[in-house]
Amino acid sequence: MNMGYSRTIIITGGAGFIGSHVVRLFVSKHPDYHVINFDKLTYAGNLANLTDIENKPNYTFVKGDICDYELVKKVISENNVDGIIHLAAESHVDRSITDPFIFAKTNVLGTLTLLQAAREFWEPSRWEGKRFYHISTDEVYGALELTNPEGLESPFVTKASSAGHKAYGRTFFTEETRYQPHSPYSAAKASSDHFVRAYHDTYGMPTIVTNCSNNYGPYQFPEKLIPLFINNIRNRKPLPVYGKGENVRDWLYVEDHARAIDLIFHKGKVAQTYNIGGFNEWKNIDIVRLLIKTVDRLLGRPEGADDDLITFVTDRKGHDLRYAIDSRKLQRELGWEPQLQFEEGLEKTVRWYLGNQDWLDNVTSGDYQAYYERMYKCR
Ligand code: NAD
Ligand code: TYD
Repeated sequence: MNMGYSRTIIITGGAGFIGSHVVRLFVSKHPDYHVINFDKLTYAGNLANLTDIENKPNYTFVKGDICDYELVKKVISENNVDGIIHLAAESHVDRSITDPFIFAKTNVLGTLTLLQAAREFWEPSRWEGKRFYHISTDEVYGALELTNPEGLESPFVTKASSAGHKAYGRTFFTEETRYQPHSPYSAAKASSDHFVRAYHDTYGMPTIVTNCSNNYGPYQFPEKLIPLFINNIRNRKPLPVYGKGENVRDWLYVEDHARAIDLIFHKGKVAQTYNIGGFNEWKNIDIVRLLIKTVDRLLGRPEGADDDLITFVTDRKGHDLRYAIDSRKLQRELGWEPQLQFEEGLEKTVRWYLGNQDWLDNVTSGDYQAYYERMYKCR
């Protein structure tokens, strides 16, 4: 049933960090779409991320596992779903190092389950008006060389680029870069990307894959660098910087990613890959220093008060040195440009976490953690 809506789409992982921004955008911007948020609510999924839109008439939440073939098929067929935007995944590299199996299960078998269930329902219509959009990561490309630890003047600048416009090497990930994943997380994502492309090449399913750089912004689970460190600075806890903090990541504000997803879902060409990023490279240690400065300023603490929280710890195993996305194809072909400049976005993000301490305290509370750690262990 389409209940008078022009389209019905499933967004998987819509209770997570990026997914909640995508759900919010689609529910608000497309009131003529019925948006089904399909999420298992693992430790990373939190319906509190969506309280502002949960009562909208065009929004439905379904609690479910993407590995559950019968349930996925039922939700697709009963709602006459014509589009899937697939974000559900295990997403944290450190967890993938300690427990790789759940990454293979969710990211690979879960994606395959979704593809097969969609195929069963969509193939008889010869794919008319259908779309399977898979959200992937730049980490599938492996690591880039880091030839200049002090940073070079970047040849590419967008509105998201930081004031210094730095690049730490001369190469970037393009859509043609060979896959060379190193962590169990990126290996599982790479595998799922291959399955998505195989469903296009073998069965003709209208698929799209995008590979985005590191996201930051509100509602990110505080196990990832930026929210973890904001919370630790707030609570004056040590900041565990891996290695020497020289690894480089390319950061994009989450709402800019969500806008790219909206654009690509509607205008992207079938069977294409688009890289998403804002040409905004940062060395971890520089981000950590900026975070300390920003949190201390906003909390009225004297400058330098929390510098000694920085604690260099044993490096992450297989730690990728540098990620840097070349997103010129997306800019050129679909006219996308990120809107939020990094230093402004980071301050906005810090203000959000400091202004939403209940959210942070809830997800870092013993009860929340213990509950999900138990679930996590028994999966
Ligand atoms: P997240 O960990 O915050 O959220 C993942 C969501 O998926 C959660 O709501 C969780 O409950 C749900 N989920 C997990 N297993 C599930 C299952 N078996 N069935 C149904 N739901 C399940 O992740 P995120 O950071 O928002 O990332 C979302 C997607 O974007 C992932 O596919 C990730 O690989 C990709 N991505 C993330 C980044 C980033 O910087 N965070 C960058 C590029 C791409
Ligand atoms: P993270 O947010 O986990 O994202 P990803 O591994 O997907 O890039 O980590 C970002 C960078 O910060 C990465 O180089 C690892 C580093 N890092 C630390 O130094 N300490 C930490 O406690 C965490 C979580 C990450």
